[in-house]
Amino acid sequence: MKETTTILGLESSCDDTAAAIIRQTGGEAAQILASVVQGQNELHAPFGGVVPEIAARAHAEKLDLCVIEALEQAGMSLAEIDAIAVTAGPGLIGGVLSGVMCAKGLSAGLGIPLVGVNHLAGHALTPRLTDQIAFPYLMLLVSGGHCQFLIVRGADDFTRLGGTIDDAPGEAFDKTARLLGLPQPGGPSVQAEAEKGDPKRFAFPRPLLDRPGCDMSFSGLKTALLRARDALVAEKGGLTRQDRADMCASFQAAVADVLCKKTIRALDIYLAENPAEPTLAVAGGVAANTAIRAGLETVCVENSVIFTAPPLALCTDNAAMIAYAGLERFNAGHRDDMTLMARPRWPLDKHAPALLGSGKKGAKA
Ligand code: KG4
Ligand code: ZN
Repeated sequence: MKETTTILGLESSCDDTAAAIIRQTGGEAAQILASVVQGQNELHAPFGGVVPEIAARAHAEKLDLCVIEALEQAGMSLAEIDAIAVTAGPGLIGGVLSGVMCAKGLSAGLGIPLVGVNHLAGHALTPRLTDQIAFPYLMLLVSGGHCQFLIVRGADDFTRLGGTIDDAPGEAFDKTARLLGLPQPGGPSVQAEAEKGDPKRFAFPRPLLDRPGCDMSFSGLKTALLRARDALVAEKGGLTRQDRADMCASFQAAVADVLCKKTIRALDIYLAENPAEPTLAVAGGVAANTAIRAGLETVCVENSVIFTAPPLALCTDNAAMIAYAGLERFNAGHRDDMTLMARPRWPLDKHAPALLGSGKKGAKA
């Protein structure tokens, strides 16, 4: 009979509490048996951003309920779990601690191994769970809390080519929505407005395109938008629907342009290594944006590179990605014990200099 490995994954590094169960049989592709995500939007909405203490408390209250729900979804008991994988950083420390403590309790109580996982590794390895893509591939991680280019060479081997030095693009979308009175999360609402607008009406800046390398900056974009909005309000006393749509379209075009041009640079570095199956994978909530996605797909076609994006539910924060990254580490023989620490910062690439950005969702590692 083929050997199976069943992993329970826990995620609590930001504002989603999640538990998932995956199973691998022999060397076959891993299957997701359950994936439960409980968001906290309504808890943080009155404050206009994630409040770390509220998030940590909610995680502590919900984690065991998510585990129970995941076990029910998978139709199994804790006795069938072979190892516990948990996000041990980077993220909001109170939330990460809640997850690590829950995982330690389960591991000690059940007498099964514990595997600490880097949250960003979870995102970066997801295309292997969904599409079994081979190393090395180029990953663009682009969400409300993260933005970086990584060459993924192995489950524990990442080279960061660059990233945002201030806001993440999702954060910029959310702030833009706030400035224009559109609902949160900002990404989908700005995109919907942008579809009715003229992307050329406002010449918003493309920060850092004039500098070499793959680093990006998005905070100046929001200031430019604020100025343009205030100028129109001063001139006409308010914004028309078309003004708002044009601002969204021009803002989205600027973000897409920066991401695409920096992707071309990142691809140049990656392709110079002659990968056997050149692939660009994107993950994170912003990867759902149709204009950005279309731009990246065009860049890939022009460079004869395969484009892949996991389904949205696995692009945004979830525990299946943590269980899968844990499985890869588990298969490589990695084990943690009760000394496993919760880490607010945990760069994937140990050799890359620290990024400066630290937005609403905490340190970006
Ligand atoms: O990956 P995610 O769920 O959470 C983390 O940040 O970890 O990403 C959420 C972010 C939000 O900022 C949201 O506005 C953005 O992704 N987003 C989008 C779109 N859908 C979600 N941004 C642009 N266009 C979209 N269609
Ligand atoms: Zn994330």
